[in-house]
Amino acid sequence: MKNIITYCLLSLMIPATSLFADQEEKPLYKDKKQVIEKRIEDLLSRMTLAEKVMQLNQYTLGRNDNANNMADPVNDIPGEIGSLIYFSSDPELRNRVQHKAMEQTRLGIPILFGYDVIHGFRTIYPISLGQACSWNPGLVEQACAVAAQETRMSGVDWTFSPMIDVARDGRWGRVAEGYGEDPYTNAVFAVASVKGYQGTSLSSKKNVAACLKHYIGYGASEAGRDYVYTEISKQTLWDTYMLPYQEGVKAGAATLMSSFNDISGTPGSANKYTLTEVLKNQWKHDGFVVSDWGSIEQLRPQGVAADKKDAAFKAFQAGVEMDMMNRCYDQHLGDLVKEGKVSQDRLDDAVRRVLRVKFRLGLFDQPYTAVTKEKDRFFLPASLAIAEKLAEESVVLLKNEHKILPLTNVSKIAVVGPMAKNQFDLLGSWAAHGNQDRMVTIYEALKAEYQGKAEVSYAQGCNFDGDLTSGFEEAKNLASKSDVVVLCLGEKRGWSGENASRSTIALPAIQEQLVMELKKLGKPVILILSSGRPLDLTRLAPLSEAMLTIWQPGTPAGKPVAGVVSGRVNPSGKLSMTFPYTSGQIPVYYNQRQSARPHQGKYQDIPSTPLYEFAHGLSYTTFQYGDIKVSAAQLKRNTPLKVEVSVTNTGDRDGYETVHWFISDPVSTISRPVKELKHFDKQWIKKGETATYQFEVDLERDLGFVDGEGKRILESGDYYVMVKDKKVKIEIVD
Ligand code: BGC
Repeated sequence: MKNIITYCLLSLMIPATSLFADQEEKPLYKDKKQVIEKRIEDLLSRMTLAEKVMQLNQYTLGRNDNANNMADPVNDIPGEIGSLIYFSSDPELRNRVQHKAMEQTRLGIPILFGYDVIHGFRTIYPISLGQACSWNPGLVEQACAVAAQETRMSGVDWTFSPMIDVARDGRWGRVAEGYGEDPYTNAVFAVASVKGYQGTSLSSKKNVAACLKHYIGYGASEAGRDYVYTEISKQTLWDTYMLPYQEGVKAGAATLMSSFNDISGTPGSANKYTLTEVLKNQWKHDGFVVSDWGSIEQLRPQGVAADKKDAAFKAFQAGVEMDMMNRCYDQHLGDLVKEGKVSQDRLDDAVRRVLRVKFRLGLFDQPYTAVTKEKDRFFLPASLAIAEKLAEESVVLLKNEHKILPLTNVSKIAVVGPMAKNQFDLLGSWAAHGNQDRMVTIYEALKAEYQGKAEVSYAQGCNFDGDLTSGFEEAKNLASKSDVVVLCLGEKRGWSGENASRSTIALPAIQEQLVMELKKLGKPVILILSSGRPLDLTRLAPLSEAMLTIWQPGTPAGKPVAGVVSGRVNPSGKLSMTFPYTSGQIPVYYNQRQSARPHQGKYQDIPSTPLYEFAHGLSYTTFQYGDIKVSAAQLKRNTPLKVEVSVTNTGDRDGYETVHWFISDPVSTISRPVKELKHFDKQWIKKGETATYQFEVDLERDLGFVDGEGKRILESGDYYVMVKDKKVKIEIVD
């Protein structure tokens, strides 16, 4: 009886066409033989206004490790919602929620489960800033594929990754999550990660939908503070921030996330230009845009919306299809449509986009996740091998005086510092499912690495911060009895990531003090630095013989570090972000625009150059570059151009070398950066051998520039192509 009443009540709200259709045995949208667009239209024609609105909302189930993001109790989750942030790794729980959607709602539309899989799900690999230092997009693609497999098999269909915000201020905690300061680098890794996550078919049970974030300009956060205003001209928007998104969209990214930041007066989540004119109209993206966590409601404090309803209106009209968490859409969108403020067309377009992603993921046909054992999903040997290789390749050898590294002829190694016996902080931010129990600390890894060859002992020395010096004495005693001190310092995991800005990027005074004390003993000091951002190492550099930055390596933890220290691994990482001389030098990045007086205007009290430049990184071998050869020095537009350089491994061991190809355009209609990265290539070169690196230049793409509307322009005149200190002139003639 109750069911009949419910049915009658529901039918009053159902469009006439679907009343008839619902009596069919199997509605078209449930027929997997039909093409997706037809299925969408069929389903759309059956949906009520309320059902459509619900598809545009994302609720949460559980919580992540970000204190801002609290969850809704499970019972609050209506089966009709579009998406759920799913913090669990249990497929059974997902299936229970999904059963509610499939069986207890009128149309049985599956829920899309999303989660922040930023640098791995359970097998955690290095943070993105470190991944970029590997200059190995193929390996990053493989790592993302591992993450996708663990994620999908755990009941999550969609990751809020990659973050591809070009970022040039190390004080901003979120630099950890992106691929550094350069637009091209972010673009290359955007493509690699989209390919890794999505594979060739979203409906595979091992792939997930990607989400390019945070669209757009979030990395321009003023003075490195989070969530604040960003001043971005249209020119800068296009030449600095758009490329990674444009390439990510071309690579097929299913979704994008609109950003928190206010872009020169129009917040990213209310920006019709970026969200609709560019993304949907120019780039023809046919997936959907989800807001960032609460970024719709935050239009109110940002001063562009009077209340939640106004915020819903502005975000939706600008082009945000899904409301993450803040219930602006489910409370107000229906009314906005009824009042005629939001058109039926816009509503249908938004719902279509969400359904399209669900259909592409195969959720209508296979809404549930197979229940598997954790051991069949996580830490598979091949997955661990990929994470370890990526961690090895992301290590950057910043300094190596007198070739102190690799440490070979030593018998007593003192391992000191707050990071030496630490696992938790090596995971980095956004790694809530990471499991520290199986991670080997740097100390344990060094012990294993040197077993039978050297004695490895430990003293903590100090904490990450505070002013307790009581551990100094023990550390000094140990160091004085040892041949060398391996000092493991850095940042705690929570010091970078979201809402983790710092006014200075130097390490806390207590850590610097420990280095000074140990240096007094006259023993060689090797600094192992783990952080989620570039560090100010100006005071520490002279106090150490060698410095390695290991970022936050994730699950492989100490093992790759020990490999580099011992020489089992030849380091090949190069910086994806400049290490400034001091925090006061920020923002400092390689592709700055030229000054009116390049010889003047510098700070009077510090050098004008950074401590370590973009792309800096040493190896245990040496490489010699030949001259750049060009296929033509003068050429017309639309002509192919090939440039190449040979690199010889002149040292005494095999190693990887990454060649970075830069261009410069000294005279142009707009002033352009002093140099711009356009291509890179990493090759393994055996000792004594020579490798050839080639760059096929597309004149318009690589030498031209974009204007403030995204139009690519190639002017005639002189350009330079550069690698290291070599450069060659190219002339474009009409
Ligand atoms: C972050 C996003 C994240 C979202 C969901 C927000 O606070 O800015 O990067 O994807 O939360 O957890």
